[in-house]
Amino acid sequence: MVTVFLKNDNLKVNVSAGKSFREIARKSGASMEFGCRVGDCSTCVAKIVKGNNLLNKINDKEILALNAMGANDENLRLMCQCVVEASEGEIEISYFF
Ligand code: FES
Repeated sequence: MVTVFLKNDNLKVNVSAGKSFREIARKSGASMEFGCRVGDCSTCVAKIVKGNNLLNKINDKEILALNAMGANDENLRLMCQCVVEASEGEIEISYFF
């Protein structure tokens, strides 16, 4: 299991590999905001405080959206595009909306 700490909501959830953050947010009741859910609007931007290496690799849509925002922090991701890939470890997320 991977432990995900959703910092803004002070929530800790255990998830298995393959879980998307859309699903994690919905099931945990986290206040993380989503808009388009397809990587276009950047509403779901968040900082991966810990465990970025446990997620899927950043995709082209995310790179485009983050560049458009002027973001140059490799730990910023769009949560609607993120999936837990590892089967063990700890992830900590801090979101902006
Ligand atoms: S919800 Fe629009 S980019 Fe993630």
